[in-house]
Amino acid sequence: MNDRTVTVFGGTGFLGRRVVRHLRKHGFSVQIASRHPDRGHRLFGLDPQIQSVEANIHDERSVADALAGAFGVVNAVSLYVEHGQETFHCVHVESAERVAAQAHRAGVERLAHVSGIGSDAASPSLYIRKRGEGELAVRAAFADATLIRPAVMFGPDDAFLTTNLKLLRRLPIYPMFGRGLTRLQPAYVEDVAEAIARALQRTKMHAITFECGGPRVYSYEELLRAVAHEASLKPMLIPIPFAAWHVLAWFAEMLPNPPVTRNQVELMQVDNVSSPEMRGFGQLEISPHSVEEILQQMS
Ligand SMILES: NC(=O)c1ccc[n+]([C@@H]2O[C@H](COP(=O)([O-])OP(=O)(O)OC[C@H]3O[C@@H](n4cnc5c(N)ncnc54)[C@H](OP(=O)(O)O)[C@@H]3O)[C@@H](O)[C@H]2O)c1
Repeated sequence: MNDRTVTVFGGTGFLGRRVVRHLRKHGFSVQIASRHPDRGHRLFGLDPQIQSVEANIHDERSVADALAGAFGVVNAVSLYVEHGQETFHCVHVESAERVAAQAHRAGVERLAHVSGIGSDAASPSLYIRKRGEGELAVRAAFADATLIRPAVMFGPDDAFLTTNLKLLRRLPIYPMFGRGLTRLQPAYVEDVAEAIARALQRTKMHAITFECGGPRVYSYEELLRAVAHEASLKPMLIPIPFAAWHVLAWFAEMLPNPPVTRNQVELMQVDNVSSPEMRGFGQLEISPHSVEEILQQMS
């Protein structure tokens, strides 16, 4: 490992494993910290500059061990459904703060904390509020932390567009969240991973927030139609009130792999678009890929 090692919490996840690859491309060594290091070994076993260690962000000792000697840290840990002691507060606020505080204590020079567009400590949605509180807690513990707020992300193994595409192929009548008016700006997961690697590479660290939204803003209905068009489908899209989705998601969350969750429904009720006054891909000299471009590559 070289002296520019970056510890990636969540480095086995959908975004995290891309972050690992992009960090390597930029010459960093990487230490993947997750509860299942075997996944890291399976993904990156042949690269001697990538190590996988077992770490749980709820545990002070394992966070400290994973950070020892690191130049930078990325927190790309997620929690989409609360279960038992795994709560949004615990993961997105307390443990996010733990990683930031331990990083500061260990003299780590760079911290990129992954949050999400729309994070807001005053939101009525528990999930969105906890993401907002988490950002504040991270900055309080590590003043120069970089906050990365992706829009909803897509890529070959995503849980959003790929799922939508599969469902559009199967269902002749497609139920939309509400009237399909929510505005979305999907970002390609590889572009977000590159943004994180470039943000860590900057020579000076300042408390900067990057909002990573893709090249086009769609209404949810427009996005579904664009995805259907790429697959030569002509689905009938029908509006379903959000109240009905909340009830459905409440039941779905009892399943081991819920097809829809209440926080997904809440997220679909508010626009998810980067604000023009925030820094984003442009400042990192990244031209983000469009949904259509990536779907064409995937087909
Ligand atoms: N996906 C999107 O569209 C999207 C959009 C906006 C923002 N984001 C944000 O981007 C970040 C990454 O999301 P993702 O979709 O890539 O998540 P993901 O695929 O679910 O991956 C989550 C990662 O977190 C690790 N993890 C979970 N609990 C942990 C714990 N207690 N200790 C240590 N590691 C733990 C998991 O590994 P183990 O299970 O092995 O521990 C896994 O590597 C999250 O902050 C998410 O909210 C995602």
